[in-house]
Amino acid sequence: MGRFIINGGIPLRGEVAVSGAKNSALPLLAACLLTEEEVVLHNCPRIGDVFSMQGILEKLGAHVRFSGNTICVAAKEIETVAMPEKLSKKIRSSIFLLGSMLGRMRRAVFQYPGGCEIGARPIDQHLDALRKLGVGIEEEMDTIHCRTEALRGAHIRLSYPSVGATENAILAAMLAEGTTTIENAAREPEIVDLQNLLLAMGGKIRGAGNSRIVIEGVSRLHGAEHTCIPDRIEAGTFLAAAAVTRGELHLLSVNPGDVRGTIDILRGAGARIREEEDSLWIRVGGRLEPFHLTTNPYPDFPTDMQAQMCVVAALSNGVSRITETVFENRMRHIDELKKAGAEAEVKGHSAFISGVYSLHPADFTATDLRGGAALVLAALAAQGQSTVSRIEYIDRGYEALEYKLSSLGADIRREC
Ligand code: EPZ
Repeated sequence: MGRFIINGGIPLRGEVAVSGAKNSALPLLAACLLTEEEVVLHNCPRIGDVFSMQGILEKLGAHVRFSGNTICVAAKEIETVAMPEKLSKKIRSSIFLLGSMLGRMRRAVFQYPGGCEIGARPIDQHLDALRKLGVGIEEEMDTIHCRTEALRGAHIRLSYPSVGATENAILAAMLAEGTTTIENAAREPEIVDLQNLLLAMGGKIRGAGNSRIVIEGVSRLHGAEHTCIPDRIEAGTFLAAAAVTRGELHLLSVNPGDVRGTIDILRGAGARIREEEDSLWIRVGGRLEPFHLTTNPYPDFPTDMQAQMCVVAALSNGVSRITETVFENRMRHIDELKKAGAEAEVKGHSAFISGVYSLHPADFTATDLRGGAALVLAALAAQGQSTVSRIEYIDRGYEALEYKLSSLGADIRREC
């Protein structure tokens, strides 16, 4: 139960390299189960969720070597089709292993991943897609038994462009007999990254990044080497850090196109942002103007940046409205921000935030990954000493956050 101790009020300045994308590394690791050969992933972030996924793969029988930011997975023999319960409950993204486990073994036994801090997180779309592919599913308490004689290509139409359901359907369809089409698929950059790895493994897939994905099942996939895309949410978080500390940052190893939603809102509020091929430069001299944003599936504004933008709004020069449409319980950071003097009110799915000139230091408690990152931003903005506890949430998705922030001039230290 560690915490950060932060002396805020210091404008962040300098350059920082953004790590590989958490929400890409996780499905890419699941894809490694689809072949007996070694898959090498570069630019893989050293974060809690990746270490948990490594643990699950090892429990299933895969050999994993994780050195620096390169992880090698050789799933030569799979020793069990049962997901390790404790680890699977630790990270929801273990659900992606369902599709690849079925693709490889035609069987899988796992526990309902359950809800988390931001919502109920049902998996009905995942299971519907797998049934369409010929998987028999029996539920017994919170254990789910999946089995199929053969996966058969199918026409799948998602009722909502769920990222995880899209990825699970893709992973299960790669080795199915015949053609699978996925309509109303999620369009996130991480889906394109998954497609690129699967192509490198000899898979036949096209359309990722659009709403319609087509997969021609093949009999086997082979090993490959691939580099994870940069983490667009970490990049957005650093842009927000520059905004709330009125600093100037140069972000390296970024795909500016993947951060479009956040760039547009911050530019519209008065931040100066310059885009280069694989980097971003931002300068914020004074208070930003208020803004309205609504989270939606990609390419609209990302829900994973909503909490961070609440802190930017809390310091802006007017009233902002931030509406969350993706998850039903993703405004818990607002009560924490009020501890630092933020003037905000949540009505239904919207937060109405009246900007103040400055926040004061406070003792915050993280309630989830991105909410925790937002509280770090608030502490960086507030003149004086703040603390952020339960930072294990933050460690799930941000690599070496305190070192990166310290290199930009922040006064932050971890207390275990
Ligand atoms: C992925 O979660 C990301 N996680 C989340 O990032 C991200 O917030 C989310 O996509 C939306 O972009 C990873 O990629 C590991 P969804 P996922 O299925 O796949 C409902 C972070 O902070 N739904 O697109 O679980 C669901 O309840 C994390 O990095 C169903 O109803 O998200 C939610 O309301 C948080 N039934 C909405 O769809 C289903 O079967 C979006 O969920 C599946 C989802």
